[in-house]
Amino acid sequence: MQIDLLSPASFAAGQPHDQYRWLRENAPVHWCDEPNGRGFWAVTRHADVWAVDRDFQAFSSEPTIMIPDPAPGQGQGFGPYKMMLMMDPPEHTGFRKLIRQEFTLPAARLREDRIKALARQIVDGVIETGQCDFVADVAGEMPSFVIAELMGLPLEDGRELYKLTETIHTAPETLPPGAGGAAVAKMFEYGSGVIAEKRARPGDDLASRLLACEVEGRKLEDMEFLLFFLLLVDAGGDTTRNLLSGGLLALMQHPGQLAWLLADLDARLPVAREELLRWTSPVIYMRRTARYDVELAGQQIRAGDKVVMYFGAANRDPAVFAVPEALDLAREPNPHIAFGTGPHGCLGQHIARIEIDAMLREVLTRMTSFQLAAPPEWLASNFISGPKSMPVRFKAR
Ligand code: HEM
Repeated sequence: MQIDLLSPASFAAGQPHDQYRWLRENAPVHWCDEPNGRGFWAVTRHADVWAVDRDFQAFSSEPTIMIPDPAPGQGQGFGPYKMMLMMDPPEHTGFRKLIRQEFTLPAARLREDRIKALARQIVDGVIETGQCDFVADVAGEMPSFVIAELMGLPLEDGRELYKLTETIHTAPETLPPGAGGAAVAKMFEYGSGVIAEKRARPGDDLASRLLACEVEGRKLEDMEFLLFFLLLVDAGGDTTRNLLSGGLLALMQHPGQLAWLLADLDARLPVAREELLRWTSPVIYMRRTARYDVELAGQQIRAGDKVVMYFGAANRDPAVFAVPEALDLAREPNPHIAFGTGPHGCLGQHIARIEIDAMLREVLTRMTSFQLAAPPEWLASNFISGPKSMPVRFKAR
């Protein structure tokens, strides 16, 4: 089996489940060479991914959670500043505490009515047309609107910011030179405007609260705010979008499962949504770096080695999921790891679940007879998985 977990080509039509299967069965902690780096261990079994994600003592999120190392002496590329996603406890704990309250289940539920109204508005926008690009016109709208509302920004700006995150997540070799860096710069430029605006006229929103709060007895510096801003816009954007588009594609490809879901949508959606998360696993991997020599599933890992957790592979591990290659919307229990686990486990997961349910309920109750109008085009990325565009035809119910 040819194993290549770096080439965007391996991810050009979804995740490489045949490679994942071979790795889980034959080399669950597998050494992969890297053309421009020191190489990395690919971890593909559920139990091992779970163990690595929780063991922050042995497996650090610094200097980065992406496979390529930052340039020497560059830190994370933001001077002395770090993004929360790439910090370890206890530093990480202090930063996560600043925004944790905004993302609890009760806090997410308070947003539910508004999120449902946004879902209605999004479907209103396409329902008469009979055809749309489901990714851009439906799935992508939801997370970009929700993040804009969380931050107290105009919905239209959320849409622009979200386009930037897509560029940031696209494999650099498939973009014009410098496009990724330019997208980050634009995000910071916009974020600087938010700082000025929210300092002058604070509102009842997360951006204003972040600017007012204190860490270690002082206010956040501008760059610390900007890195939070980038993380939040980035983390909640094409992940949720890809779940929605990839989820609808899975339903179109499994009409029997869709019929089962529609027979009692309200009761079945919460269980079905977890299976769609397992099935699509929008975040392909997170990287850690071994802090000291350690053994993992019988494999000796050396201090400094990169250890990469493949969530989509773990989510099809037959040791945990019966008939993992089958989409089974009634699957219960469903201990998937699409949101990660441990100290960095997805902070936005309660909001994401509310967004997914609201959008799928709206789409499935108002639209029917979905058909692909052209083959979906997949995002060229070995980090985030999902269709980049998916033209569909449908009828209004
Ligand atoms: C289907 C949608 C989503 C998926 C699949 C997803 C997945 C993930 C994963 C795998 C991680 C890393 C976990 C780890 O390292 O163990 C993560 C972290 C994170 N996610 Fe999500 N996410 C989604 C939606 C969201 C949304 C809507 C938001 C916010 C509005 C969000 C905010 C975050 C943040 C802030 C982190 C970093 C947490 C930390 O470093 O402590 N995510 N997410």
